[in-house]
Amino acid sequence: LKKTSVSLWSSEHARPTLPERHPYSHKGTHGKALVIGGSYLMPGSIALSARAALRSGAGLAAVATPKSAWPSVSVHIPEATAVSTSEENGVLAERVEVDFTGYDAVGIGMGMGRSDASRTIVQQVVEEADVPVLIDADGLYHLKQLLDVLKNRTGPAVLTPHPGEMAHLLGITVTELLARPFEWSQRFAYNHGVYIVLKGPSTIITAPDGTQVVDTSGNAGLAKGGSGDVLSGILLALMMQSQSITEALCNGCFLHGKAAELLTTEGHSKADLLATDLIEGLSQAFRTLS
Ligand code: APR
Ligand code: MG
Repeated sequence: LKKTSVSLWSSEHARPTLPERHPYSHKGTHGKALVIGGSYLMPGSIALSARAALRSGAGLAAVATPKSAWPSVSVHIPEATAVSTSEENGVLAERVEVDFTGYDAVGIGMGMGRSDASRTIVQQVVEEADVPVLIDADGLYHLKQLLDVLKNRTGPAVLTPHPGEMAHLLGITVTELLARPFEWSQRFAYNHGVYIVLKGPSTIITAPDGTQVVDTSGNAGLAKGGSGDVLSGILLALMMQSQSITEALCNGCFLHGKAAELLTTEGHSKADLLATDLIEGLSQAFRTLS
């Protein structure tokens, strides 16, 4: 694996590559996303993800969450539909009863919990979903036990860890990771054939071939629980609507950061900004880039 140059993503890159909405498009044109996660005690994260996906242009969003969590999820995103699930003590268990071919991308892990019961669902998705899959949060925690399954996967996989999750996957400390974040990301992406979005004040996007792009948008207003869940939904929506996954990931990170910047220029402060505000701020971010 050779060292490659790293490029910086900007509005000049985003403008020509963001998805367009043609006059004759319909909801199917823009993709149907499935998000899997949430639990009775953590219904918010999957709601944020589904809502962010629809706010980022997805045509349809379906949610696989425990039945006990669905009422609190759906109230935040009435546009989403639910799929049939099994649960154990308020968390997803066994399998999700869906045909993955009916979806254009699948996101898994947000607020799903770390019980062994939910790991089987991460395995099901990695093994059975041929469409692009995004794995975040507790899904990444489970993935540590599923790296062999990941290797055998043919469809694209996108991992969106924060430094703690990435260090866990690599079996190293956060200090070790942050001393060489480019090298670790490149090695993992190449060895496992996955895309990595290593989140932080600067986010490093790495493709399976080792190509790397940095996104420096955003600010400390994003340092609050829920911003990562919003990012997962944005990325999922753009993955379904873009020519290249790398472009989708760069644009998604850029829009997420741009929304935070615009919201904290006037109106919100970095202290009061919420993940829900971030979703509504996507309108401004899209507008400045159109
Ligand atoms: N500057 C710019 N961007 C930032 C900053 C900052 N100072 N701080 C955070 N961000 C951005 C990151 O780049 C990323 O896109 O906000 C997002 C934070 O994502 P996560 O760390 O995944 O946070 P989130 O998922 O919302 O909340 C914490 O992660 O550890 C798990 O399960 C845990 O639910 C918890 C969750
Ligand atoms: Mg997170």
